[in-house]
Amino acid sequence: MFLGLDLGTSGLKAILTNGAGVVQATADATYENPHPHHGWSEQDPSDWIKACENVLDQLKAATPDKLAALQGIGLSGQMHGATLVDKAGDVLRPCMLWNDTRAAQEAAWMDAQPDMHKITGNIVFPGFTAPKLLWLQKHEPEVFENVAKVLLPKDYLRFWLTGEYIGDMSDCAGTSWLDVGKRDWSDQALATGHMRRDQMPDLVEGSDASGDMRDTLRSRWGISGNVVVAGSAGDNAAAACGAGCFAEGQGFVSLGTSGVLLAAKEDYAPDAASAVHTFCHAVPDRWYQMGVILAATDCLNWLSRQVSQKPAELIGLLPETINGPSELLFLPYLSGERTPHNDAGVRGAFVGLDVAHTPADLTQAVVEGVSFALRDCLKALNGTGTDLQSVLAMGGGTRSAYWRETLATVLNLPLEVPTGGEFGGALGAARLAICAATGANPADVMTPPQVGSVVEPNAKLLEAYAERWTRYRALYPAITQALA
Ligand code: XUL
Repeated sequence: MFLGLDLGTSGLKAILTNGAGVVQATADATYENPHPHHGWSEQDPSDWIKACENVLDQLKAATPDKLAALQGIGLSGQMHGATLVDKAGDVLRPCMLWNDTRAAQEAAWMDAQPDMHKITGNIVFPGFTAPKLLWLQKHEPEVFENVAKVLLPKDYLRFWLTGEYIGDMSDCAGTSWLDVGKRDWSDQALATGHMRRDQMPDLVEGSDASGDMRDTLRSRWGISGNVVVAGSAGDNAAAACGAGCFAEGQGFVSLGTSGVLLAAKEDYAPDAASAVHTFCHAVPDRWYQMGVILAATDCLNWLSRQVSQKPAELIGLLPETINGPSELLFLPYLSGERTPHNDAGVRGAFVGLDVAHTPADLTQAVVEGVSFALRDCLKALNGTGTDLQSVLAMGGGTRSAYWRETLATVLNLPLEVPTGGEFGGALGAARLAICAATGANPADVMTPPQVGSVVEPNAKLLEAYAERWTRYRALYPAITQALA
């Protein structure tokens, strides 16, 4: 038996699989995500541990014999968070998460320092880990003095599970301290961020072993044999493992709170200036590239709160199939934007509102605006030489047939829709556990899910959506000027 633990922003999801990666049981637990000041987003790392104890309790209650046969654990984690521990391993302050933008000034400063793009392959985005430590040095110097290790969220969970300070390549690639091409900490990037190598965890590949579950924990949950904890992965790399995006040209589009267009890469070909993210994959000698938009279904959730109708009700106002783009345009920059603008200050807009517009019109514009933003990501990925022939559809937004057809037509790419079941970060984590504990070849384990249907772009409407995307693109400079 193998356990995949996906440490997300709103909760922890656990899946127990057999050696073939087939799901045997699932459990989940939620935790808080306080925003104590504008732009701050924090979590108490002890809540992650409580959630982990909770899901293990649930699995033990549901299926004690299967849990007792556990051989490996893999983790998938929300990326970029700074969990700070002192010499004794005690947490110094709440973790500053990936969507915490308090260090925007420090990020801009660090991004402009020599060689940062060359070393890390990426823009130093405000949510990344390194600028958070520069903010800490300025605003909480007494805490900064005591930082013995900086751990990413899932690496803190690993520390509790194994007692080891270890990070994996895919997650550490999002710190701005890693040389992403060499897959090693960069002393130059660390010095630029006023940090030292000894404050970093040791590095392993995601599909390798990182340590063993502590005996006290094994006996608490009645687990009989040794349990290997895999190097594991940041959530997007883990999702790529779950979705079988592993070889060049394989990719997925995800409509979750944020939106992601990801492509697996067999070589390292970064282009930081394009605001494309280039990170290590969770297996050796592979990378992946992705465009990230900060608000995807989050835009629909926002609209749903304003008109007091549930997101599913709003989607229900739309027809089953598309019949041309809306005159009303929506810019989805509700939390700023990463790809392609790298602009934490920009905000969203409806353009072209009419007295006759209804919640259905607003919903269609939101669905299209998010799809256009992902088309911008595809353009940025194509600009780095990445070619995608089709993509797997993932995330809650892709449950809508209308949104799927809009997205396929706007991207001009076939969307492969899995038949259902598990194929996200938690499954990817369980698959990494299988590789780490049994030595299985990742290429044999990370297979794509069964595809139930393929949504083709609507050929008759391609041009109309392409024309509307051109109009959408012209609005970014206008809105930045209006907001200046
Ligand atoms: C990736 C990113 C998010 C987080 C949150 O760069 O910021 O995907 O990992 O899940």
